[in-house]
Amino acid sequence: MSLPSDLLDRFDEIIEKRGYSSRSEALRDAIRNYIVNYEWMSEVQGERVGVISLVYEHDQRGLADELTEIQHRHMGLITSSVHVHLDHENCLEIIALHGDGDAIRRLAETVMALKGVKYVKLNAISPDTNYRQLP
Ligand code: NI
Repeated sequence: MSLPSDLLDRFDEIIEKRGYSSRSEALRDAIRNYIVNYEWMSEVQGERVGVISLVYEHDQRGLADELTEIQHRHMGLITSSVHVHLDHENCLEIIALHGDGDAIRRLAETVMALKGVKYVKLNAISPDTNYRQLP
């Protein structure tokens, strides 16, 4: 396994702050979190409204074009998107969706696997939830 040193430095900084006794203990936790998140995503089914937030390097070769193309291919699923230029290298994109949960999850997974995408978070809820009934 090879990791960029600045990524590992940042990881070490955080695990020290959080009081982990070793890097492998923190890695186990990180892998568990990854699995829990993946399993949660697998349960995104049926009609859903959701948001995908992602941070990516806009100068990664071909990435911005590919993200645009993916969004055009999923026009029926995407209701809106917002692009924020974070700094010289990074962009934040927020994509609002409404449609089949499976399709929303697959779209999030496609985006996650792209090189240069640093962070992806999917949030999805059922549009049928009666929020007025919630305490
Ligand atoms: Ni930008």
